Amino acid sequence: MKGLFIVLEGIDGSGKGTQTKLLSEYLKKRGRRVLLTSEPSHSVVGAFAREQLQHRKMSQKWMQLLFAADRQHHVENDILPALKAGKTVICDRYSLSSLAYGSVSLPLSWLKKLNHTFPRPDLTIILDVPAEVGLKRVRGQRRSLELYERKNLLAKVRRNYLALAKGDIKVVDASGSKKETFAAIKMIVDKL
Ligand code: TMP
Repeated sequence: MKGLFIVLEGIDGSGKGTQTKLLSEYLKKRGRRVLLTSEPSHSVVGAFAREQLQHRKMSQKWMQLLFAADRQHHVENDILPALKAGKTVICDRYSLSSLAYGSVSLPLSWLKKLNHTFPRPDLTIILDVPAEVGLKRVRGQRRSLELYERKNLLAKVRRNYLALAKGDIKVVDASGSKKETFAAIKMIVDKL
């Protein structure tokens, strides 16, 4: 039996980390075997991508190629074997992150081509929060220019996510409490 592949997406501070854990616990209690994972993954390339994110020196194109190389490794070594073993895979970020973040500065058509061979999740849930809310959750107050620049970028990423939400890509309002957000996620997953 093939398992289910569920992805949680959203801007920084949208609560993916918390909600993927809650979902994993919920499904385990219901008797499912779960692989809880995330991207960038723990591969050498994933770790390198995370390091580069902190330095912010590399071009977006190079970064998205790194994310795609990491994704290929993640799919081959973790995601597909788990699905084949009948596990439910819950992944914090996947191809949609490349499309939503990357298309702030790169053509969406190029990003789609780069990502089109990866297996499609059965369900993707976008945790939607305004950029201000995401930023506050991640960092608290910071110097205004920095905050403004970052807020602008995250607002664009949020718009990109919402524009990509079609078919098996659902949107959940994640600006309320953890409990409220999880209740909305549970409703969608229970239907699956
Ligand atoms: P996070 O792991 O802290 O959520 O963030 C990883 C960062 O990398 C986040 O800013 C989004 C970005 N990213 C992309 O731009 N494209 C991708 O494919 C992935 C996986 C992450």
